[in-house]
Amino acid sequence: MNPILTAIHARRSVSPRRLTGRALSIEELTTLAEAAAAAPDHGNLGPLHLIAVAPEDRAALAEVFARAALEADPAASAEDLGRARDRALAAPTLIAIVARIDDRHPAVPASEQWISVGAGLQNALLVLETLGCRGRIVSGRRVASQALRSAFGLTEAEHLAGFIAIGAFEGDPKPARRRATESVLSIWRRPEGR
Ligand SMILES: Cc1cc2nc3c(=O)[nH]c(=O)nc-3n(C[C@H](O)[C@H](O)[C@H](O)COP(=O)(O)O)c2cc1C
Repeated sequence: MNPILTAIHARRSVSPRRLTGRALSIEELTTLAEAAAAAPDHGNLGPLHLIAVAPEDRAALAEVFARAALEADPAASAEDLGRARDRALAAPTLIAIVARIDDRHPAVPASEQWISVGAGLQNALLVLETLGCRGRIVSGRRVASQALRSAFGLTEAEHLAGFIAIGAFEGDPKPARRRATESVLSIWRRPEGR
């Protein structure tokens, strides 16, 4: 099969808890960022930003996740906070996905900027195939928390869309659930009588 199609169809998301191995090197992160930057981008606005969490600062991020959990539920139990911390520590590499959306752009609506963000993310996920890694985009309520927004220094125009969790995975990922082609593709025909 064509290598692009092979990578597209081989890609599978894997739960961050099941990802193991080492963190991506700076060269691998650069390859991923270059692929993300090659996505279609109306007006070259560059709406997608990737912020890789330094491996030595994952513990600090875990405390931010705990603060985000407390923000959502001030009565969160110690177990809840532990689970929140674990989410920041799962997977060898964690990359924050930041979308910088200009809501008032005169020519490029916000929807097009979000589409560009998604296209960049897909490119990044496909790079994982070439690096022998797996990953999953994860989000959750915590991404809108003040704790995380402030930890990542986001401005009003910036949204934390989620994280890409990345690592090695030895087993067989769950079979893919893919839409039937006819639910994706149809053919437009000239309306009757026109
Ligand atoms: C922006 C975004 C956020 C997501 N957030 C979550 C999440 O919080 N938890 C989750 O299990 N899957 C989440 N997903 C879906 C997974 O990343 C993944 O696409 C899904 O598990 C299907 O697996 P597949 O990619 O192998 O088809 C998210 C996807 C996107 C695009």
